[in-house]
Amino acid sequence: MYEKHFGLAKKPFASHPEPDMLFWSDGHKMARTMLTYGLTSGNGTVVITGEIGAGKTTLLHDLARRHKDGNRFGALTGDIGYDGDVAAWILYGFGIEAKGSSPSQSLSQLDKFLAQNRNAGRKAVLFIDEAQLLEARLLERVRVLAERQSGGHPVLQLVLFGQPELGALLNMPQLAQFRQRVVSHYHLRAFNRSETGDYVASRIAASGGNPELFAVEAIDRIHDATNGIPRQINIIADTAMVYAFAAGSESVAEDMVKRVIKDREQNGILKIDPPSGL
Ligand SMILES: Nc1ncnc2c1ncn2[C@@H]1O[C@H](COP(=O)(O)OP(=O)(O)O)[C@@H](O)[C@H]1O
Ligand SMILES: [Mg+2]
Repeated sequence: MYEKHFGLAKKPFASHPEPDMLFWSDGHKMARTMLTYGLTSGNGTVVITGEIGAGKTTLLHDLARRHKDGNRFGALTGDIGYDGDVAAWILYGFGIEAKGSSPSQSLSQLDKFLAQNRNAGRKAVLFIDEAQLLEARLLERVRVLAERQSGGHPVLQLVLFGQPELGALLNMPQLAQFRQRVVSHYHLRAFNRSETGDYVASRIAASGGNPELFAVEAIDRIHDATNGIPRQINIIADTAMVYAFAAGSESVAEDMVKRVIKDREQNGILKIDPPSGL
């Protein structure tokens, strides 16, 4: 809608993960380092926590893309499709339908799949997004399954992404063994003020526009209203651009952002939760 007006090749603030538009804040860089370390050194479990909208799923996509070679990735989310058959659930994550009708048949199908990967020199890695939604019992069963050894090596590596509650889940007494397998954990925090400014500028630049499109005070208001959470920044920045476009303005001023925030508050749809602090 406003792309032409602002001289942009595409919308700068989409609401879905876009690994091509990644802005590497210190926190995102550190999370990437921990993930890469976990993937390239052994088979221990990696855990990334962060607030809703902090960029966890975006990191997952980025990682899967950069480490395609030598790995076979599967992906699940904590809220889908588990019906009591853990092996079938894991197979589903790898895009494979369990053929048998019992858990033991699913297990032997999973074993075959994992052996094939190993023989082809590939590591099998299962990403679980929104892992805070899993039940402790399921997580423990996945661990037992993943930890079985073949030729001295665990058969499957786990990488969990989740909201801060995932930390509390993993601290449950029944997950003591699971915790011991965690080789790296990183908590992705929200942006500070200067990162919020750099983030907005980088997304506009990546869309072919003028990185200084937003006034400095406009960024201040965005940061205050969003606590530096990228998904919330995207929503406000995008709407502010619509307002600026409607007003025929070539830049986004503070009062436009203020109006966006006020309108959303009045409509009751911009309730931004304070960070829960891990
Ligand atoms: N470092 C980043 N660079 C660019 N965009 C980001 C970054 N972090 C988050 N985003 C954007 O913020 C939104 C929310 O990110 P997402 O990965 O879905 O968060 P989460 O999974 O933590 O809830 C997406 O639109 C994504 O493109
Ligand atoms: Mg996510």
